[in-house]
Amino acid sequence: METYYVNGFYETRNNAKISVEDRGFNFSDGVYELISYLDENLIFFEKHYSRLIKSLLSLKISSPLSNKKILKLIIKRLIKLNKIKSGYIYIQITRGTAKRNHVYSKETPPNLVIFCLPLRKIEEFRRGVKVRTSEDLRWGRCDIKSISLLPNILDKQIAFNQGYYETWQIKDNYITEGTTSNAFIVDKNGSIRTYPKSKHILGGVTRDVIIQIAKKQNIKIIEKAFTLNDIKWCKEAFLTSTTVKILPVIKVNDIKINMMKIGEITEILTYNINKKING
Ligand code: PDD
Repeated sequence: METYYVNGFYETRNNAKISVEDRGFNFSDGVYELISYLDENLIFFEKHYSRLIKSLLSLKISSPLSNKKILKLIIKRLIKLNKIKSGYIYIQITRGTAKRNHVYSKETPPNLVIFCLPLRKIEEFRRGVKVRTSEDLRWGRCDIKSISLLPNILDKQIAFNQGYYETWQIKDNYITEGTTSNAFIVDKNGSIRTYPKSKHILGGVTRDVIIQIAKKQNIKIIEKAFTLNDIKWCKEAFLTSTTVKILPVIKVNDIKINMMKIGEITEILTYNINKKING
């Protein structure tokens, strides 16, 4: 039986409940974090925790977790209760339960739900995925991991319906990121390029780790935005996220990348991130 952590209690799926007056339900007023784990070991936990605190502070939502040790204890217990050895942890926090009113009170305690899901089967994507592009219609604070994901889910669904893995968002001619992942190319000079950390993208944990690995491997990485025209001339492309770590991108719209084969730099990064995770 699946177990959910809800505001201090471990509840079975049918008993896990949140009020109809939850501000997350009424206003998308909340944040979340997604952490992957392998053999019960949390991957890049510190980075995810820091980002969660940053998201909460940005929205002035008080933290229901007094420290990271407590969060870790809850997660470990949840993993045991769910008997899922490897998977993903979702931490959902909203501004709490209150009579519907745009104006909120600082006194309302936040709602906290934590649950885990088993690893997704993504082997078919390892050989490379196709990406489409569309206009970035999201708000001006994409750096906050907000539960308000409407433009993301709509564009991800279009991608899915049309046989693509992801939709890369275009703002002022530049690719910002995907709906669930960060976007990269290896440009014609052999440098990795990705949109700079800013309010226009989520600062991905995997993105940070990939940048670290590239630097260590002496691969030049420039946090500088790229356009569709840069994609036409690029040597490789890839995307990163907690759920997939890194995936080669072999086609963007109708542009074939590296003759639809996995590139050398993508392979080096994949090898090294797997090494880092698996020890
Ligand atoms: N999404 N950009 C967006 C818009 C994302 O939603 C995500 C993660 C990323 C990558 O961030 P990270 O490497 O920290 O996972 C970038 C996850 C997978 C999700 O919400 O399902």
